[in-house]
Amino acid sequence: MLRRMLLAASESDRARKLLVSAPLARGVVARYVAGDKADEAVAVADRLSASGLLVSLDHLGEDTSEPRQATEVGDEYVALIGLLQAAGLTGDGRAEVSVKPTAVGLGLAEHGEKTATETIARICAAARGAGTTVTVDMEEHGHVDATLRIVCTLRDDYADLGCVIQSQLRRSADDCADLATPGSRVRLCKGAYSAPADVAFATRAEVDRSYARCMRILMRGSGYPMLATHDPRLIEIAAAQAHLTGRGPGEYEYQMLYGIRPAEQQRLADAGARMRVYVPYGSDWYAYLVRRLAERPANLAFFARSLATRS
Ligand code: FDA
Repeated sequence: MLRRMLLAASESDRARKLLVSAPLARGVVARYVAGDKADEAVAVADRLSASGLLVSLDHLGEDTSEPRQATEVGDEYVALIGLLQAAGLTGDGRAEVSVKPTAVGLGLAEHGEKTATETIARICAAARGAGTTVTVDMEEHGHVDATLRIVCTLRDDYADLGCVIQSQLRRSADDCADLATPGSRVRLCKGAYSAPADVAFATRAEVDRSYARCMRILMRGSGYPMLATHDPRLIEIAAAQAHLTGRGPGEYEYQMLYGIRPAEQQRLADAGARMRVYVPYGSDWYAYLVRRLAERPANLAFFARSLATRS
């Protein structure tokens, strides 16, 4: 119930204005967001990389409503990749970028899919030039088909383009089976968007079971699984699956969000696992932050306390 309310709030303009103007919201935001500007995000990536962690940087923003905006988001990513390369972070998969399809135009009233495809292609070209990769995030369920079509089209030229599967969707085991092909980089997450019962599992237990099922398919397949979860039980299952399928530490990776379970991130990296941290940056942090609150209501109390004690 609370999760549903928070996910609705993540799309509300009124709630956005209220929270963004709260004077000390920033202190809390800093726990999850690496800063407003690309150079701040690159500094965080540099620090994480020095601790043996891999990084995927995300420029915050979604639901681009004008073609010009999509072009600007593309420009931002190209500049970001340039900064990562200049900082020496693009080799050996150390820092890559994650892109939301609606940020690069997928939701535009006209030519949305074409605009998103062309903009992601431009970002892929810059990433390849710098020696790194791109992963296309997955958003709400109505965009899944188009997003997978975009990935499939672009993989003709950029075979290392990553995509995301959300275990909360009923279709996801089938999608994983289709995607578990040689070289295919697939990030598996539970899913951060609300979706109706005809397309998504309703309970946490079902979503978790689906995650384990999808993980098994990806780990047994011949692609490169990227297991995005903070869930201790699923992380244990991942290690068992790696053992069963004979995958070495370089043949799959764990992924977690910046600011969530950092000690566990470091523990996995220190134990020799490939551990990637998803690092968002930018001033458009509202929807991202509210989705994080929805995942863990305890964070709501933390957030309220921070606002109360610092104001
Ligand atoms: P779950 O939410 O069940 O949490 C399991 C445990 O992890 C909790 O009990 C708690 O200990 C800890 N935890 C989880 N969230 C926390 C929080 N906010 N604060 C503190 N502790 C927390 N989604 C999507 O729809 N499309 C996408 O493209 C992506 N991309 C993506 C990339 C990466 C690298 C990650 C890690 C996640 C995503 N997600 C995503 C988000 C994902 O779908 C999901 O909402 C969150 O990862 C939370 O789910 P968990 O698997 O962590 O489990």
